[in-house]
Amino acid sequence: MVLYFSATGNTQFIATELAEKLGDECVDLLDRIKRSDLSEIRSEKPFIVCAPVYVCEMPRFLSKYLKRLKLSGNRKVYFIANSAGYSGITGYLAKRLFRKKKMEYMGHTEIIMPRNYFLGRYPPQTSDEIKKRLLSACDRLDETANLIKRGERLRGRHIFMFEKLITIPFNPVWTKYKMPTKDFFATDKCVSCGKCEKLCPMNNISIRDKKPVWGNSCSHCMACVGNCPADAIEYGSATKEKGKYSFRKYKHFLNERKHGEAEKSFSVKKNIPKRRNNG
Ligand SMILES: Cc1cc2nc3c(=O)[nH]c(=O)nc-3n(C[C@H](O)[C@H](O)[C@H](O)COP(=O)(O)O)c2cc1C
Repeated sequence: MVLYFSATGNTQFIATELAEKLGDECVDLLDRIKRSDLSEIRSEKPFIVCAPVYVCEMPRFLSKYLKRLKLSGNRKVYFIANSAGYSGITGYLAKRLFRKKKMEYMGHTEIIMPRNYFLGRYPPQTSDEIKKRLLSACDRLDETANLIKRGERLRGRHIFMFEKLITIPFNPVWTKYKMPTKDFFATDKCVSCGKCEKLCPMNNISIRDKKPVWGNSCSHCMACVGNCPADAIEYGSATKEKGKYSFRKYKHFLNERKHGEAEKSFSVKKNIPKRRNNG
């Protein structure tokens, strides 16, 4: 069974593709996380947990949820880290988490997808860069699904001690001081549909006077920004200057690929940043 959390659609794509290739079920954990629903999940096949990388780890709200969630049936678990280029210690922490749950850790791998986060120093990506990453991720997905099908372990790269020493204290400090919530706002384009409230994994958005209002506990996941149907949510001037990412804008491109047309129409040689956390 494939379990996932996804804010802007990249991990959802990875999870649903893997489930399709493996003929397995796929479960979106968003509603369960929002409702703190810890009811048991049972699977006869190995579990495959897919998560985006936030500040070199899996999102802390997700790891907290997974620690408490009862997984029964098959004791094997694979972990797929979906990053924009550097998954840091995500694999190491996933291994620790699932071993504490007395599960047999079958390894992790990293699948590099387009970056959904441009706040701070990150430059926006061009549409061509995004497409290159998506095509490369599709190849990586095929390899990963084949390994899992054959019951083999995924071999993530060695994670160095200094990465653990830096990331474990760095993550909460960075999140607290560099990721404030106060700059989120909705423009007049807002149609009060409430989708942002429904998609916020931290239950940090409420609708007041027909407009979203942000509280203080935010993971900066970008679900509200990337999925607003009216494109009404901004973050300071950053989203105006650098744009917003959502996988759904590129879904048609990959649908074309499925029918063998994307590679033909997109002839640029694949050239994505070197993968830094993979076996
Ligand atoms: C708050 C935040 C922090 C992130 N930190 C990292 C990071 O440390 N390393 C990385 O490679 N990508 C990082 N990313 C990028 C995402 O992991 C990546 O774009 C992922 O594909 C998003 O998945 P989703 O569309 O399923 O939400 C970060 C994204 C967010 C929103």
